[in-house]
Amino acid sequence: MRLKNKTAVITGSATGIGAATAYLFAKEGAKVVCADVNVEDVQKTVNEIKEAGGQAEARELDVSDADQVESFAQYLKEEYETVDVLFNNAGVDQEGGKVHEYPIELFDRILAVDLRGTFLVSKFLLPLMMDRGGSIINTTSMSGRAADLDRSGYNAAKGGVINFTKALAIDYGRYGIRANSIAPGTIETPLIDKLAGSEEEDEGQEFRDAQKWVTPLGRLGAPEEMASVALFLASDESSFVTGENILADGGLQAYTWPGKMLIDKSWKENIK
Ligand SMILES: NC(=O)c1ccc[n+]([C@@H]2O[C@H](COP(=O)([O-])OP(=O)(O)OC[C@H]3O[C@@H](n4cnc5c(N)ncnc54)[C@H](O)[C@@H]3O)[C@@H](O)[C@H]2O)c1
Repeated sequence: MRLKNKTAVITGSATGIGAATAYLFAKEGAKVVCADVNVEDVQKTVNEIKEAGGQAEARELDVSDADQVESFAQYLKEEYETVDVLFNNAGVDQEGGKVHEYPIELFDRILAVDLRGTFLVSKFLLPLMMDRGGSIINTTSMSGRAADLDRSGYNAAKGGVINFTKALAIDYGRYGIRANSIAPGTIETPLIDKLAGSEEEDEGQEFRDAQKWVTPLGRLGAPEEMASVALFLASDESSFVTGENILADGGLQAYTWPGKMLIDKSWKENIK
């Protein structure tokens, strides 16, 4: 029960990493507020938590909408008074082509959800954390540490989240608030289905095979593996860790040059 009596807010908890983290935080004793634009699936997350004996509630929230976030903070103040853990996890991703052809609206949308949303939710919920201290965890990506072909909007947004997290860490350390980010590698979630195709589609299968090939652990990650990292950062086990970005990518970015592995095809056969 590492989060006993704590109130934890998780954005983007309808599916994927956020949903897995909501289950785990609730299992560890937290009261979990699950916020998402996807009302139907976030309610499913909450129902499953409750069926398992945990405490949770679902709230509809678009993290990129300042008015909605402000009202959400007001609601939390009335219902919970304080927030101990904030997991800014909501995010979108999409390919958009090279920079000169990248649609402006797509760039704006990705920045609005992934970066501005992280700023807005932090801005409005921080006053609920400043009396008692707490932990903020932001989901960035390995794509915030290096770049992908045709995904400059996502790269810019997630790179921004890493440094924004450091700004939170230094501004709020004296309030007992820690701020860290998690940089997942490729994790099997609906986001990957949308980005690269599902496992049932040829394109999606090809993407997964390539990921497995170039990942030292030889597989994609599971949402539950990211939830474990989030739990570490949320709990007192990480009490002297702040301003940090934890990469959880199965070793992918440990390479300087994966060319050798690409030349030696035996690596491709040795995947899970
Ligand atoms: N899956 C991966 O390989 C991977 C890798 C690196 C980083 N990430 C990041 O992990 C986070 C979670 O993604 P996931 O992989 O679990 O995918 P996902 O699509 O299952 O989860 C994203 C969640 O964010 C919600 N969301 C989207 N826009 C929103 C908005 N405006 N307001 C509130 N909620 C919104 C979605 O409804 C969804 O529940 C995202 O920030 C994503 O960028 C994922």
